Amino acid sequence: RDDVVILGIETSCDDTAAAVVRGNGEILSQMVSSQADLLSRYGGVAPKMAEEAHSLVIDEVVQRALDNANLSGNDLSAVAVTIGPGLSLCLRVGVQKARKLAGRFNLPIVNVHHMEAHALVARLIERDLQFPFLALLISGGHNLLILAHELGHYLQLGTTIDDAIGEAYDKTARWLGLDMGKGGGPALEELALEGDANSINFSIPMRQHKDCNFSYAGLKTQVRVVMESKNISIENNPISSANSEDRRLRADIAASFQRVAVLHLEERCQRAIDWAIKIEPSIKHMVVSGGVASNKHVRARLRHVVETNDLQLICPPPSLCTDNGVMIAWTGIEHFLSGRFDPPPPADEPDDAM
Ligand code: KG4
Ligand code: ZN
Repeated sequence: RDDVVILGIETSCDDTAAAVVRGNGEILSQMVSSQADLLSRYGGVAPKMAEEAHSLVIDEVVQRALDNANLSGNDLSAVAVTIGPGLSLCLRVGVQKARKLAGRFNLPIVNVHHMEAHALVARLIERDLQFPFLALLISGGHNLLILAHELGHYLQLGTTIDDAIGEAYDKTARWLGLDMGKGGGPALEELALEGDANSINFSIPMRQHKDCNFSYAGLKTQVRVVMESKNISIENNPISSANSEDRRLRADIAASFQRVAVLHLEERCQRAIDWAIKIEPSIKHMVVSGGVASNKHVRARLRHVVETNDLQLICPPPSLCTDNGVMIAWTGIEHFLSGRFDPPPPADEPDDAM
């Protein structure tokens, strides 16, 4: 394992990331270049603009990941790259870079599923984490509850039927007029600390559906309706220009939204645990990962649910919960070591063949 060294490349959404990880789990380098600031000025991820931003920095991000690990392409065992899900224009930037490099140094390619990587990075953090385990993956584009039987064998217990929780955080943060520069989720989490989480009675989504699926579109609508009823404009209304009463109201909305958004996760998790224990009684761990898993309230509440069921919660540190290259490199290692990879691409492969 120690001889295996893999470069991971991630460009599925708004972060351009690369990392070099060794087979034993040692992180040799990691680089992330975020477009959050750029995108915040345009109201979200515009695919064409995101693609250009990735293209501008990809060479440098990858080169610095190699330099910081003191390695060249010759020292790598393989290149791992996210092939989806995500914005196809953006994914292409990473895939082209990975194939160019792999072609040049005659390296195998490992194609990585972004959500699988969010789950498997937990096995880098917690080396005792064995299959089977449960995983709740909460990000900007997806909510998934999966039962991971073994590498490459996942049973989906629940998924998003409309918006993912991260999307609901981002939209609510925008409506509340928060500074989106560091991302809507973290800004909302911070404002919520000032508010009363019980001040507004948002209803918990999908309670009548006794399954493990998620829905956040309705909660978003509830937020908008409450804001309208309290005469807080949802457009171009920065919180920096709010008076103290207005700010207090917004903080109450943020805190109440967060309470109910997370209650929905808690209910789904409890049901998933009930189901999973019947299918795989040997389960001992639940992984919670993806960008939203860096939220302290989310972590604390889910820890409670998981530990009440005598399971152990494994939540990667925030830098490995949000999109990163380490999770891609690590998933590459897991697949590479089990023989799942593609042969090196031709050194002279044209871009449009990728
Ligand atoms: O996994 P991720 O980095 O990218 C996707 O795969 O989508 O997740 C990004 C999402 C964004 O919606 C972001 O607002 C949210 O994760 N997020 C948070 C926090 N940090 C990131 N949501 C709530 N609280 C946070 N602290
Ligand atoms: Zn992600």
